[in-house]
Amino acid sequence: MKNKTKRTKVWPVTLPADVRQLQEAADLLRSGGLVAFPTETVYGLGADARNTEAIRQVFEAKGRPSDNPLIVHIADKSQLDALVLPYPELAGRLMDAFWPGPLTFVLPVIPGAVSPLVTAGLDTVGVRMPDHPAALALIRQSGCPLAGPSANKSGRPSPTEAGHVLDDLDGRIGGVVDGGACGVGLESTVIQITGEDGVRILRPGGITPEQLEQAAPGVRIDAPTAAGEQTEAPRSPGMKYTHYAPHGEMVIVCGEPSAVAACIRKEAGLAKARGETTGVLAFAEHAAEYEADVVLSCGSKQELGQAAAGLYASLRHFDEAGIQRIWAEGCPEEGLGLALMNRLRKAAGGQVIRV
Ligand code: TXA
Ligand code: MG
Repeated sequence: MKNKTKRTKVWPVTLPADVRQLQEAADLLRSGGLVAFPTETVYGLGADARNTEAIRQVFEAKGRPSDNPLIVHIADKSQLDALVLPYPELAGRLMDAFWPGPLTFVLPVIPGAVSPLVTAGLDTVGVRMPDHPAALALIRQSGCPLAGPSANKSGRPSPTEAGHVLDDLDGRIGGVVDGGACGVGLESTVIQITGEDGVRILRPGGITPEQLEQAAPGVRIDAPTAAGEQTEAPRSPGMKYTHYAPHGEMVIVCGEPSAVAACIRKEAGLAKARGETTGVLAFAEHAAEYEADVVLSCGSKQELGQAAAGLYASLRHFDEAGIQRIWAEGCPEEGLGLALMNRLRKAAGGQVIRV
């Protein structure tokens, strides 16, 4: 808590980001400071990926385990030349198809190109080009490849607004570039190309398996899904930690919609009778069926983009309301539903009821 007395600056940006608006933030990054910045997925906690002292402070500010590597953000494909060794041609094609965008590639790193803390000692580095004008402008203006984990305290829901960053990190980082709410709301999909042309999803995210499958048939998913629990150790170290969790105890309920609603109504009623505060995260189609202390609608089940965009803000909202027990309606693990259910399961510490 030694930085507690220092204030974290807020730099509002109006888009397209103007050079003068980002000057102070870019200077701070160049001199080894920590600046949170908006991306299309969630806010990142930026630091010069080559500066070990800056990266050490990132881990300290977040309270992040040191064996969990960071993603490096670039604004131009040419920046890869100084970061990674030759990579499969398929990776290049997928970059052209999905960058800028929520897709992170785990690639062989040039020894010494980034701080060893960024890669957590691995011989690979995660790289992505975010699809956000303020992020791209900040990377260009700072001249740094920006290491950027999500700008939350480790274990907390990722931040999708500048205010969430301040809730977790005020006084612990130099500043935050405020670009408003993030559009996608879930982190990037992390992939690695194995063998000749096998795409392996290490963390589901904003680019869906179906999108990848279209570009490169034969995609494999290396993450637990409803279909079966993971058998191998996760290749993406971050996947093994409890994550995104609200303070309240959360359970996901999956199944036929009317049975799901009946189960949640019953469980919430029992909890209320025990004197506990209750919250429900429901799709718009059923939100009116619940009587909890806080009922949040996450948009239509037919359009999961809205649920993804609002998920982390909803979890933080339950915390602000002091909710002790939370039930969330599950959804099919297709399209964005795969990443959504992955984050929900983690927020719930794996507690899923099937009805
Ligand atoms: O959308 C995002 O990816 C956001 C924004 C800010 O870009 N960033 C983000 O970073 O989610 P973070 O640190 O919260 O998550 C990074 C994930 C972790 O699961 C980590 O284990 C994995 O990427 N990762 C990073 N480098 C890796 C590597 N070399 N090999 C395997 N997994 C890696
Ligand atoms: Mg994170």
